[in-house]
Amino acid sequence: MGTALDISQLKGRAVLAPMAGITDSAFRVICRRHGAALVYSEMLSTEALSRRHRKTLKMAGFREEERPVALQLFGKRPQAYADAVALLEPLAPDFYDLNFGCPAPKIVKNGGGSALLKEPELVGQIAAAAVQASPRPVLAKIRSGWEVGAENAAEIAKILESSGIAAIAVHGRTKSQMFSGTADWAVIGRVKQAVKIPVIGNGDVRSGADAARMAEETGCDLVMVGRAALGNPFLFTEINECLNTEGGRQKAEIAVAWPEKLAVIIQHIEMAVADKGQPRGIREMRKHLGWYIKGIPGAAALHQELMRAETGEEVLGLLEKLHSSMVHHHCGENEQAPE
Ligand SMILES: Cc1cc2nc3c(=O)[nH]c(=O)nc-3n(C[C@H](O)[C@H](O)[C@H](O)COP(=O)(O)O)c2cc1C
Repeated sequence: MGTALDISQLKGRAVLAPMAGITDSAFRVICRRHGAALVYSEMLSTEALSRRHRKTLKMAGFREEERPVALQLFGKRPQAYADAVALLEPLAPDFYDLNFGCPAPKIVKNGGGSALLKEPELVGQIAAAAVQASPRPVLAKIRSGWEVGAENAAEIAKILESSGIAAIAVHGRTKSQMFSGTADWAVIGRVKQAVKIPVIGNGDVRSGADAARMAEETGCDLVMVGRAALGNPFLFTEINECLNTEGGRQKAEIAVAWPEKLAVIIQHIEMAVADKGQPRGIREMRKHLGWYIKGIPGAAALHQELMRAETGEEVLGLLEKLHSSMVHHHCGENEQAPE
């Protein structure tokens, strides 16, 4: 299927970026509940799928509540993409997404992810193979190019569009930049100028104000957020509000009270344990716990214990301690300092 993504079908304009090891079903549900208009899976290896690798197949699973959800694929052989789509079709995801941006050495060494930015012709073949195999829209995610001085995102985007890709997410960094420096949003604007299909801007959006500025400067249709959503899924609501409000840039950031955050953590734990059991589910979400409590008074002292927790009960016990230390801290601040 080769039609453009209809963004009017989405509820909101803030989308969750794909993040390996992070955007599993539980976290995607949390982000959807807080306004993410679209969520992406962790990247799935087309080669692993062709071997029916159990763990990869499991990673492709999602909850109905996540819809619209995109399953992200990486690899190198066009036929492996077509096969992966055929294999995943019974799951009926809303979209497939093709990863042309991952800079990880393991992926690049095998010719996948951002290495493909150096092979525009192969990008076209992969996109065409996936689009042909898929009865649903296929999206793609790219970086600005392989290295500074070789930013070919607009050229790649045109190839993707003519291969039937429905929308393109652009992370404004080259492969060589990895995650360093600041994202170059100008390249997102150049891609937007080069194609008619929707463009999703990505890189360093940390607030609703950032999102509004990105949309204004680049003309992008949707804004994708990765790292800033860690421990802060409430950011999607903030971004949606800013992008919908005239003069949204002035809107205050949404401050989230602890009880609301705790409720999210509990939901996250329940889903992680339902999906992965204990202790695995808890071990794998420890990093999320660290992000959720970052910056809260008393969090640093609890961090080590939290990173050793094996059960949901242990985690909740520790968070209860954090809550009491917050209450004390708060009262302490209001007390008169002793003479
Ligand atoms: C831990 C981590 C894992 C990531 N995994 C993926 C991935 O699997 N697929 C992908 O396309 N991008 C991946 N990315 C890149 C993000 O999708 C996004 O492009 C990047 O983080 C820039 O956006 P941000 O500044 O909002 O974080 C990953 C980023 C991080 C930090």
